[in-house]
Amino acid sequence: MTPTEKIWHNGKLVSWNEATIHVLSHVVSYGSSVFEGIRAYETPTGPAVFRLREHMRRLIDSAKIYRIHFPFDVDQLCAAALELVSVNKLKSCYVRPIVLRGYGSMGVLPTNNPIEVYMACWEWGKYLGEEALSQGADVCVSSWTRNAPNTMPTLSKAGGNYLSSQLIRMEAHENGYDEGIALDVNGLVSEGSGENIFVIRDEKIFTPPLASSVLGGITRESAMRLALDRGITVVETNIPREMLYIADEIFFTGTAAEVTPIRSVDKMKIGAGKRGPITEMIQKDFFGIVNGTSPDKYGWLTPVPVLTKA
Ligand SMILES: Cc1ncc(COP(=O)(O)O)c(C=O)c1O
Repeated sequence: MTPTEKIWHNGKLVSWNEATIHVLSHVVSYGSSVFEGIRAYETPTGPAVFRLREHMRRLIDSAKIYRIHFPFDVDQLCAAALELVSVNKLKSCYVRPIVLRGYGSMGVLPTNNPIEVYMACWEWGKYLGEEALSQGADVCVSSWTRNAPNTMPTLSKAGGNYLSSQLIRMEAHENGYDEGIALDVNGLVSEGSGENIFVIRDEKIFTPPLASSVLGGITRESAMRLALDRGITVVETNIPREMLYIADEIFFTGTAAEVTPIRSVDKMKIGAGKRGPITEMIQKDFFGIVNGTSPDKYGWLTPVPVLTKA
């Protein structure tokens, strides 16, 4: 990660090195944070942020689930993100807002700990690699099960949830795979460690419902919209593990992973063992919009204002 100049903290810009917390902050022992991951893309008319409002709304929702109250609304958070990308003069980047419970008391009950809101951005390339985007990723079904309903709520993008993601990702990595797919507590397909999953069979697209312990992905919703507008049927339904092996195509979606084809699961070839035609179409539609080469017909991009010197 290459540091940038500024990080936003509770309404003010501070230098990269100043954005620090005390080791006894509540979040360090107890994982009490919620966060977002947002991409700003380079377009012919300058940088633009993808689905900024939806991300900030999810940040507020994630915080609400954990009774984390902070004094910034969607408009203020969006303005902060745009200012941040602008002052750091990045053409494209990843924006990471983090809301955390800070330094105060050391018990589990967090109500006396201050809430700190940070937002940083930096340049970030292709998450599963440039090659995976065109050739497809090799993935496995994880031996780790996703958090069961009514344990750690997966609709909240909470820092602590990523302990589960780390187990999935590390196991996949150790065994030579690009990524792992987790099953839910009922043994049904849930999601990747940081991606939602789509399975295609007979030209229909299937994806697990929100109740399958998934994060309500913003790229997931975008891919569903793109597919529907192409006249493809999209079904949110329980997916048994074996449906992965007999799929014609599978792809991941996520802010980091964007739209990434999967070419094998547990060393079994998926379809022709390369990016399939429906995946390619959704990928092209997605990248056309975010790279500004096709019209932004859904209003998904927010241009980053250019700072003029006073
Ligand atoms: C566990 C998990 N699932 C799914 C996603 C995809 O969500 P989105 O498309 O909003 O980035 C992410 C990434 O944020 C994630 O961490």
